[in-house]
Amino acid sequence: MSDYAFLLKQIPEIMEGESLYIPTLANVSSLLYHSLANVNWVGFYLLHKGELVLGPFMGKPACVRIKMGRGVCGAAAQAGETLVVPNVFDFPGHIACDSASLSEMVIPLFRNGKVVGVLDIDSPLLNRFTEIDKSGLEAAMKWLQENIDWTGFTLG
Ligand code: SME
Repeated sequence: MSDYAFLLKQIPEIMEGESLYIPTLANVSSLLYHSLANVNWVGFYLLHKGELVLGPFMGKPACVRIKMGRGVCGAAAQAGETLVVPNVFDFPGHIACDSASLSEMVIPLFRNGKVVGVLDIDSPLLNRFTEIDKSGLEAAMKWLQENIDWTGFTLG
């Protein structure tokens, strides 16, 4: 089981007072990828001109653009809610970037009350993500929402 209390303490420590969105999202992707067991892709898609566009991530190369409402990422971004998918084959419209991924969780990231992107975490195991993962990762996204500096990012 992952120690989310420890992970949450590590985020500000690895950021050393830096809060610009690219280094922050890049380091959080790396921290989660290397700290969580049985994950094969961790990263962000950011909303740009009405579509989700690939942002900082760790893992194999992935699809670059996802339309709102499409796949798990687009569905979570559109709903503004976390989606936990125990078996990606049961999710209509799932986008298979890596055939090794069997379960996933997508958490929206908000800026001024609007969805600005999503965190996507994929696993090669079925049913990998628990309520503990959901609440821990939502707390990490809350920290990002409160601390990230979006200077230079164009939302829309
Ligand atoms: N799993 C996503 C696509 C992105 S990749 O897995 C990195 C989806 O169906 O939204």
